[in-house]
Amino acid sequence: GLFIGSAVAGGGHHDDASYPDPFTSDQAYRDVLAGEFSSLSPENQMKWEYIHPARDTYDFETADRIVDFAERNGQVLRGHTLLWHSQNPEWLESGDFSPEQLREILHDHISTVVGRYAGRIQQWDVANEIFDESGQLRTRDNIWIRELGPGIIADAFRWAREADPNAKLFLNDYGVESINAKSNAYYDLVQQLQADGVPVDGFSAQAHLDLDDGYPADLTRNLQRFADLGLETAITELDVRMTLPEGGTPTEQQLAEQASYYGRALDACLRVRTCHSFTVWGLPDKYSWVPSTFPEQGAATIMWDDFTRKPAYDELLDGL
Ligand code: XIL
Repeated sequence: GLFIGSAVAGGGHHDDASYPDPFTSDQAYRDVLAGEFSSLSPENQMKWEYIHPARDTYDFETADRIVDFAERNGQVLRGHTLLWHSQNPEWLESGDFSPEQLREILHDHISTVVGRYAGRIQQWDVANEIFDESGQLRTRDNIWIRELGPGIIADAFRWAREADPNAKLFLNDYGVESINAKSNAYYDLVQQLQADGVPVDGFSAQAHLDLDDGYPADLTRNLQRFADLGLETAITELDVRMTLPEGGTPTEQQLAEQASYYGRALDACLRVRTCHSFTVWGLPDKYSWVPSTFPEQGAATIMWDDFTRKPAYDELLDGL
């Protein structure tokens, strides 16, 4: 009952021909995605800036190809994501919309995107990263919360449920692996949503881990408290980055430590009865978001660039 997933990188970019596109161009990559995983998450292609490039235009081309690919290979999908502060198109962020118009835009988006794939997406990240590190809602940088108030979160879940009654609807964030201010904010929000009858089904931790930060040792306990509220739980974007030594090749010790982080995260999911989905955020390192996002860091995935296995891969296999 545990689905093991990967992010899917690429598929093209409507206004950037140089955008890396391994999903289209790298057959070895496609073979690994198809052969090693039972769940796939589009890394970017269901985000607003890709799937909704103009107010009256949706671009489903690549998302469709990923969904078809998954189904051909007997895989389930995680949809990512519907309400977020990041990777929104310019027309939305700098548009001069009234609250009524924004509400209508979000409703239309959720009905259209979730409706298109209804019955074909196992889990949807409905709300992504809505709290900051201190556990405050992102009232400044999240356009929806800023312009429409926190009640829009509940509406997003209701609209998603209407559009696909079978998809499990998730709150998803990073930095919520441990019991801390941010995960406590989710813990409170979930109970509020449940009391209000809002269809929230799951809480998931992205788990972008960093050897320099140490392992979140209370991950199991944290997921368990959400499971105890009756929620599905999941690990949705696991990678384990590290500061690379001169030359860029991780040391044996770093690789061993990384393997243990991957293994422990899998073990946490296996220990929590409602954790049915465990996803790594892409592979191999050459297609990972880490090197371009975190200076000096890298080597975060479970495979080398030629698709041979790192110790972390074997550790996961041992754990299953
Ligand atoms: C990242 C992708 O991996 C990158 O390709 C993209 O440029 C930026 O977004 N949290 C999330 C993911 O929810 O959507 C992010 O993915 C990583 C952090």
